[in-house]
Amino acid sequence: MNWHPIGDISDIPLRGSRCVKTPQMNIAVFRTSEHEVYAIENRCPHKGGPLSEGIVHGNAVTCPLHNWVISLETGKALGADNGTVRTIPLKNEGGTLYIALESLMMAAE
Ligand code: FES
Repeated sequence: MNWHPIGDISDIPLRGSRCVKTPQMNIAVFRTSEHEVYAIENRCPHKGGPLSEGIVHGNAVTCPLHNWVISLETGKALGADNGTVRTIPLKNEGGTLYIALESLMMAAE
């Protein structure tokens, strides 16, 4: 895979996120209270709300617009809601975060 560095884990607040803009899409990179990191498209599968502004709890985020709960691991809406947001492969190497660029190229096709 073609890994692209996007900064350090310490740039992301605990239970918070930061936005990474790419030509294909805006990505929200989340850090959980357990210091796990996930990258998903910053666009709620319901009506496109900015998931990066949602509340992180466990390995999920609650959309700030209408409170859908999205799994950061699978990108799927949890509970009774149906929808999936794109997840982007992310790795953490000694605190530096990388996303896989190929998956973005595929997203643009
Ligand atoms: S846009 Fe996210 S819950 Fe409606």
